[in-house]
Amino acid sequence: MKYSTVLLAAAGLAAAAPSNVSPKYGRRNGAHSLPNQRNTKYPQYSSNWAGAVQIGKGFNKVTGTITVPRASGGSNAAASAWVGIDGDTCQSAILQTGVSFYGDGSFDAWYEWIPDYSYSFSGFSLKVGDEIRMTVDASSKTTGVATLENLTTGKSVSHTFTNTPSTLCETNAEWIVEDFEEGSQLVPFANFGKVTFSNATASGSSGTITPSGSTIIDIESSSGKVLTDCSASSSGVTCSYTG
Ligand SMILES: *[C@@H]1O[C@H](CO)[C@@H](O)[C@H](O)[C@H]1NC(C)=O
Ligand SMILES: *[C@@H]1O[C@H](CO)[C@@H](O)[C@H](O)[C@H]1NC(C)=O
Repeated sequence: MKYSTVLLAAAGLAAAAPSNVSPKYGRRNGAHSLPNQRNTKYPQYSSNWAGAVQIGKGFNKVTGTITVPRASGGSNAAASAWVGIDGDTCQSAILQTGVSFYGDGSFDAWYEWIPDYSYSFSGFSLKVGDEIRMTVDASSKTTGVATLENLTTGKSVSHTFTNTPSTLCETNAEWIVEDFEEGSQLVPFANFGKVTFSNATASGSSGTITPSGSTIIDIESSSGKVLTDCSASSSGVTCSYTG
């Protein structure tokens, strides 16, 4: 029930996006993350999320560093790598930030609090090989900050959320490579090679943990092909494209 409410809200907002968001900011503007659309097979296949989720309580900060990959698969193909709070067992909210990579070699840096759509950061032009630290930090269940930092230069961009469209459960902390939604359809999933979230931690009321022991999720296409191979350990989360 919760899940279909999110979908309906997502569809409505996606339709409204073009009139509210200037396209000059970036490609991911107006696109959407969806909550994890898991099926019930082991080891947890999903149509849209690949990566690792820690399920617990009181998570209010998640961080991880990726090296921006080169993606292929055609100009419409895309994938996003992001860190976030909620969206798995908690389907009603996600606070997240990350980067998208497209098959035509372009990139986009963005933040999102679902069911609102995604907004691109401006003035943060990504390149293959950039080391980007991603952090979401929720000061409450309805306020927080999303930050992306270029570890080579120390340059960072951030967005502070107020008047958020949903309330966090703070029960999921995740490091995800996503086949996201644009115009109410999943984008063709790009071949991103391999993405590793290093220095990955989740903190909150129970202290700080690593991705070790996370629930691992892989993307299975609608035709039943498994498109990713993800794993997690205390040193981070790695997902390889296997399509
Ligand atoms: C990160 O720093 C590198 C090295 O200076 C630079 O080439 C790249 O464009 C920077 N990327 C961002 C997103 O700031
Ligand atoms: C991990 O974080 C530590 C402390 O901030 C830093 O010294 C180290 O370089 C980072 N390692 C990677 C792989 O990002």
